Amino acid sequence: RHPGWPARLGPLRVAAGEVAVRPIRLRDAGDWSRIRLRDQEHLEPWEPTGPGPWRDRNSYWSWPPQWTALRSLARRGQCLPYTITVDGAFAGQITIGNVIRASLRSAWVGYWVSSSVVKGGVATAAVALVVDHAFTSAGLHRIEATVRPENTPSIKVLTKAGFRQEGLFRRYLDVAGDWRDHYCYAMTVEESGPGLVARLVAAGRADYR
Ligand code: ACO
Repeated sequence: RHPGWPARLGPLRVAAGEVAVRPIRLRDAGDWSRIRLRDQEHLEPWEPTGPGPWRDRNSYWSWPPQWTALRSLARRGQCLPYTITVDGAFAGQITIGNVIRASLRSAWVGYWVSSSVVKGGVATAAVALVVDHAFTSAGLHRIEATVRPENTPSIKVLTKAGFRQEGLFRRYLDVAGDWRDHYCYAMTVEESGPGLVARLVAAGRADYR
C-alpha cells in the first residue's frame, strides 16, 4: 500500500450534478468505450498520439490491459488512476501520474470528461478533490499540469482550480499526431491554502452536498 491509494473522494455538488472520484474498475470497460468512441472529436485533439485507429484503441477490449497497467502502477505508488462519476454514473477519468517521491514529491495531473456533462464544473471539481488528496493523504508537494495553448476549456479548469502558469514547453508532447507546444501549470502545497475544494465552495462554484 502506498500513501493515498486507494481512496474515494467527494461528492461535491456542481451545476452538472454530484461529482465523485473513485479508483478505476475493470467493469468501467463498457461505459469507458461507449463514451470514448462517441466522443472521438471531443477528445482526440488533446490526447497523446496512440498506435492504430481511435476505434481500436478505445474498443471494449482495449480497457482491460489499460486497467491492468494503471492498477500495477498504482500498486507501486507511481500513479493514482481515478474514474470521475456524476450522480453515480461514469463521466470521465482523472489521473495523478509519474509520482516521484524522495525530495521531489511531485506528479502530474491529467483528465477528460464526457461531452454529455461538459461546461458544468465537473473537471474543476474533480481536479480540486484529487489535488487536495495528493497534497494531504498522498503526501505530495507539487502537482504539474501541461496543456495545449489552444485548449481553452482545460486552461479555464486549471485557472479556476488555482494553478499558476510557469512557462511554455516547446514541441513537448506527441498529441494528435505531432509534437505540440504545451503550457506548464503547477501548484505547490503551500499555494493550496485551505484546500482547492474549500476555495471552490467559498467562491460559490461548488457545494459539499
Ligand atoms: N471557449 C471558452 N470557454 C469554454 C469553452 C470554449 N469553447 N468550452 C468550455 N469553456 C469553459 C466553460 O464555460 C467552463 O468555464 P466556466 O466555469 O467559467 O463557465 C470551463 O471552460 C470548463 O470548466 P468545467 O466545466 O469545470 O470543465 P468540464 O467538466 O467542461 O471539462 C475538459 C473540461 C476536461 C477540458 C473537457 O472539455 C474535456 O474532457 N476535453 C477534452 C479532453 C481534454 O482536453 N482534457 C484535458 C487535457 S489537458 C490536462 O489534462 C492537464
